[in-house]
Amino acid sequence: GTGTTAIAREAAPEDQAAAAAPSMRRLREDRERLRALTVAGHEPAIERQHGLGKRTARERLEMLLDDGSFIEIEMFRRHQAHGLKLGGNRPATDGVVAGSGTVYGRRVFVYAQDFTVFGGSLGQAHASKIHKVMDLALENGAPLIGLNDSGGARIQEGVMALDGYGGIFRRNVEASGVIPQISVILGPCAGGAAYSPALTDFTFMVRDTAQMYLTGPDVVEAVSGKRVTHAELGGADVHGGRTGVATFVYDDEETCLEEVRYLLSLLPSNNVEPAPAAARTGATADERPRLAEIVPVEPNKPYDMRQVITELVDDEEFIELHENWAPNVICAFGRIDGEVAGVVANQPMVLAGVLDADAAQKAARFVRFCDAFGIPLVTLVDVPGFLPGVDQEHAGVIRHGAKLLYAYCEATVPRIQVIIRKAYGGAYIVMDSRSIGCDLSLAWPTNEIAVMGAEGAVNVLFRKELIAAADPAALRTELIEEYSAQLMHPYYAAERGLVDDVIDPARTRSVVARGLEMLREKRKPAPRRKHGNTPL
Ligand code: HXC
Repeated sequence: GTGTTAIAREAAPEDQAAAAAPSMRRLREDRERLRALTVAGHEPAIERQHGLGKRTARERLEMLLDDGSFIEIEMFRRHQAHGLKLGGNRPATDGVVAGSGTVYGRRVFVYAQDFTVFGGSLGQAHASKIHKVMDLALENGAPLIGLNDSGGARIQEGVMALDGYGGIFRRNVEASGVIPQISVILGPCAGGAAYSPALTDFTFMVRDTAQMYLTGPDVVEAVSGKRVTHAELGGADVHGGRTGVATFVYDDEETCLEEVRYLLSLLPSNNVEPAPAAARTGATADERPRLAEIVPVEPNKPYDMRQVITELVDDEEFIELHENWAPNVICAFGRIDGEVAGVVANQPMVLAGVLDADAAQKAARFVRFCDAFGIPLVTLVDVPGFLPGVDQEHAGVIRHGAKLLYAYCEATVPRIQVIIRKAYGGAYIVMDSRSIGCDLSLAWPTNEIAVMGAEGAVNVLFRKELIAAADPAALRTELIEEYSAQLMHPYYAAERGLVDDVIDPARTRSVVARGLEMLREKRKPAPRRKHGNTPL
């Protein structure tokens, strides 16, 4: 009744206990009622939330976690603030539900912001609950998942709200590379609040309901005179396709949270435990004749590299990061013979598979994640080079390309390079070549490893001869053949120790699986230093 509502909204449990000396039965009933009210939330606000196509914090936790596994922390915590009439309004949860549960039986820690309470805005109590669950995640070596749906810093709590955000950011960084951190954006995520997801390993967004931006449409209009909608400014497709802020984008919350569960099933709980292995699949003896059919022999003919990955991984199943951002490079997790691997691959179907600034950043961050969490890397190479152009140069492709180079050079996890066709110039080096430390370099008989393609090379080397020639076309053909035969034949790199084996394409899956088996115990201590100065 209203009496208990008043208790739930106005008085702390300890005040209530002091008010009377009730029987055990009454105490238990009151506790039950208070708990039920806390869990039930505020009905009109919940209706509004549902009307917006969004679930409540508790409904989301139910979808994310194994049935009945949720343990809530600081359930009765409420804010102690008084500014701007806040004192008279102290709703349960303070706008965030925090705790722990399991996903496919493995422990995770999680917080879910509740937009139905103060618009999910973050005040001191709200922030403290998040801090607590972050500390628990790190101390217990288990992944942290944040479900974000918030109007940002709680305006009435002033600088204490900002202090709360700072505490989250600091903990995100402390946990970085120790436990996997996943951000799920299920509503607004504005202002500085967007920096927590940006500091975590993976950001999921839902179409239509999720937005991320530093300053909203009103401020943008006031400052620039330009009108934009929330979605145009920072919707899921903007961040999934243009900015690379979102790693995964889905149509609805159910699918999104199901995919979070799938991703978690592939990740280790922390940086000292291995990723969860599935049963062996017999990959080490596998023949895949289709592999030899997917890839055209002609070096410039496009094909879908995803089909190659499909043949390489167990159950033809993998999860691709940043599917719509820099699609000229593919980054994906899958299993090979039961063990999780990170696959980095050029995609000849998009921009002929060139590397550019975005592709380098995308792959660099992926390589660093895999290295931090002990996930072996399999790099599939079919790359004509870096994308030439004023735009790229002026976008700082040197700086961004260096990130990928740095990430590979630094990585101490097992590293296998598979050169499928072209591997030219700097892009050959960057794509986990022997020179930067791959453990095993394998090449298909279609490989073309060179400083540049034959045509380009001939043009540079024999420009004068070609101009002077009686039949330039014939001379060009002759020179191209000579260059190809001498410098690009399939065993050129293998004869020089840069490729360990020229393999039968149909046996790629088994050879990679055997390579990963060989490298399973790889240990490579890091040099003594505070940290390197990775290009940013
Ligand atoms: C306090 C807030 C709030 C906030 C929303 N509410 N944001 N209360 N502080 N930041 C409250 C509203 O007053 C309202 O309360 C309820 O939440 C629902 O909000 P609505 O505006 O009715 O919802 P909607 O129309 O869906 O709009 C959502 C919104 C909008 C776009 C997020 O609320 C909004 O623009 N909020 C302010 C965003 C903002 O500027 N935040 C501060 C950014 S700065 P009632 O009682 O009416 O239900 C920041 C800095 C972080 O976050 C820095 C970290 C370093």
